[in-house]
Amino acid sequence: MDKIIIKNVDRVYRVKRGGNRTKEFTAIKGVNLNVKKGEFLTIVGPSGCGKSTLLDMLAGLAPVKSGEIFIDGKLMVGPDLDRGIILQGYALFPWRSVRQNVELGLEIKCVPKKERAAISDKYINLVGLQGFADRFPYELSGGMKQRVAIARALAYDPEVLLMDEPFAAVDAQTRETLQDELLLIWEKTGKTIVFVTHSIDEAVFLSDRVAVMTINPGRIKEVVSIPLPRPRHGIRTSAEFNRIRHQVWKLLQNGDTVNEKSYAGCQDIAEVIFPSAVL
Ligand SMILES: Nc1ncnc2c1ncn2[C@@H]1O[C@H](COP(=O)(O)OP(=O)(O)OP(=O)(O)O)[C@@H](O)[C@H]1O
Ligand SMILES: [Mg+2]
Repeated sequence: MDKIIIKNVDRVYRVKRGGNRTKEFTAIKGVNLNVKKGEFLTIVGPSGCGKSTLLDMLAGLAPVKSGEIFIDGKLMVGPDLDRGIILQGYALFPWRSVRQNVELGLEIKCVPKKERAAISDKYINLVGLQGFADRFPYELSGGMKQRVAIARALAYDPEVLLMDEPFAAVDAQTRETLQDELLLIWEKTGKTIVFVTHSIDEAVFLSDRVAVMTINPGRIKEVVSIPLPRPRHGIRTSAEFNRIRHQVWKLLQNGDTVNEKSYAGCQDIAEVIFPSAVL
């Protein structure tokens, strides 16, 4: 069953042209994408192709003026607590403790104090931050802040999690830990996740399907199924993982000119030397 249906969505910005003149800029054009209930779908694409624009529209933070987005078959008209948003910059309130940050959505929902405390305890434990409930964001590492942001989004129990490069600012080891934790949480809670990343490795590791976008204007080029078995711990070294990773990488190259032999074994280097493919 489709949880989210994105139908022929465009996003046109009005940008300055010099003086008082403005012109239209089409950021995304004719985007069609369905996300199944409980699915983990990741969007990858070059910088500026409209990934955040699309996610903001899904969150209801940006208007859908052309096309339609349906959630559970109903036309989406704005932000709602059925969707939790996790952005790259953590967006924690510095004057609130971990617990107070996690309870934010529950306060908005007018959940009584005692119940709020029980729920925030549960999610603080789930993301491995037991013992840190009374700390403030400045007392936490980047990875811990990211965990708080995840706990906060989960605490008010949205059915959909929208995540825009949530792990981009943490070191490689923490990133892999957070990916493992996210998959455990996803398996436990059955949420529908739409995840944006620049990392092909991350996209393939996490997802049921990967939507590859192209730029100018931003469109969905292809949606790749990831038939890797779960749980995926340790799967990164498998031949099948690398085959799919290469398939996505080739799509991002915008052509079929990549020489398989020259690529073999140097995927990580490739992400550095061809940043346009992954950034
Ligand atoms: N408020 C805005 N006004 C005008 N143009 C905008 C606005 N927001 C985004 N854009 C443009 O829309 C395009 C898509 O931007 P968006 O932030 O969605 O890209 P992205 O795929 O998320 O990129 P990145 O990977 O760098 O985060 C870009 O060309 C950007 O300059
Ligand atoms: Mg973005």
